[in-house]
Amino acid sequence: MEDLVSLCKRRGFIYQTNEIYGGIQGLYDYGPLGVELKNNIKQSWWSSIVYERDDVEGLDSSILTNPLVLKYSGHEQTFSDPLVDCRACKSRWRNDHLDNSKCPSCGSTDLTDPRPFNLMFKTNIGPLEDGGSFAYLRPETAQQTFTNFKNVLDSTSRKLPFGIAQMGKAFRNEVTPRNFIFRVRELEQMELEFFVEPGSDEKWHQFWVDERLNWWSKQGINKDMLELYTVPKKDLAHYSKSTIDIMYKFPHGVEELEGIANRTDFDLGSHTKNQLDLNIDATVMSNSDSNAKLAIQDKSTSKWKIPYVIEPAAGVERGFLAILNDAYKTELLDGGKERVVLSLKPHLAPIKAAVIPLKRNNEDLVKQAFMLKSKLQQLKAGRVLVENSGNIGKSYRRHDEVGTPMCITIDFQTLEDKTVTVRDRDTMEQIRIPLEGIETYFQECLN
Ligand code: GAP
Repeated sequence: MEDLVSLCKRRGFIYQTNEIYGGIQGLYDYGPLGVELKNNIKQSWWSSIVYERDDVEGLDSSILTNPLVLKYSGHEQTFSDPLVDCRACKSRWRNDHLDNSKCPSCGSTDLTDPRPFNLMFKTNIGPLEDGGSFAYLRPETAQQTFTNFKNVLDSTSRKLPFGIAQMGKAFRNEVTPRNFIFRVRELEQMELEFFVEPGSDEKWHQFWVDERLNWWSKQGINKDMLELYTVPKKDLAHYSKSTIDIMYKFPHGVEELEGIANRTDFDLGSHTKNQLDLNIDATVMSNSDSNAKLAIQDKSTSKWKIPYVIEPAAGVERGFLAILNDAYKTELLDGGKERVVLSLKPHLAPIKAAVIPLKRNNEDLVKQAFMLKSKLQQLKAGRVLVENSGNIGKSYRRHDEVGTPMCITIDFQTLEDKTVTVRDRDTMEQIRIPLEGIETYFQECLN
């Protein structure tokens, strides 16, 4: 983990938030390369879930959430961790993260009894700070998707099965954020709520477990690093009939990367009006505030029913960490030197190509490099940059370390015969190709 954290800071992937004032625990900022990698992960998820399927719509809802939403969803009552205080050193811990009931800070066993600590952040709405008008920062994107169920249905006329996908920020006041970006207080989620006929839910649950495993492996994660974990009944979230977690062998241990839950008709059943007319299977709180019927009418029988929901829910930060961890390699080179290489899949690489003029002070070489950069940039495959350091060896090392799939060198021969040298990140092989074929070559490499 230390190597990854150091690379992230040094090369501009991740910085601690407000570091110049001492930082805030559990919050991170994404630097010039981090923002590219993060956006590429999200874009890849969105493409596979929304664009490449014909049964999913997208949504982007607000973060500030009406407390009623989180009352009926059960979050006000149950979204909490068991908290203990150490009487000796006054530190606070999650009870379920302690080894042998000892304070991880001072080793004392003089701890308070565990008590529930709600993880939701609250803020005031409007100019008064009397607590009368507040909102929660959403703890998951899912609830805003459920409350928009009727809106999306009315505007798209979807039939079951269909899904609504959403990616965006969620906030959790974690008691002990830790392990770099693994457990943070401000996170991003990529969540699909897939609505299905009751009775077909178990089949769809398995379908989405398989789909999601495949997707992670297409992002470059070795299948050996992934495991499935069926959450025992006693540990299931209040809304879940069954949950299968995709676990990843993170540097600090095997932990959840994504959860795929069968949420039954719990959520739509909790937020709908006319609950008593709808034969809801899940146990839900009686709702006297909702003004929408969150159900679907069966045209043949005219009966209303509430769909079941299968929810693949992944965290962007955990995906980022897993992808980075899997891509990070050190290799021994001829001559005993070591190189660090990030073998990221090209579609995720923060920089798609670096164009390197052999000499930084040569006007013709530099001009040619910028012309080529501009040509490749117009293909809209992602960021291409000119690396004008004048030191080819160092430029190669730097781009190996940040995962740039190809480096293109402009040298004096380029000016004469319009050819360039292309170096492959993984094999380090160099080939000479004509400038006029470079766009096709670049696109083929990225695909
Ligand atoms: N809507 C369901 C839901 O939110 P979850 O298991 O609590 O389920 C889904 O969260 C995913 O979000 C997790 O698998 C994890 O990848 C990510 N996640 C949850 N809490 C996190 C945290 N504090 N820091 C980073 N990622 C987190």
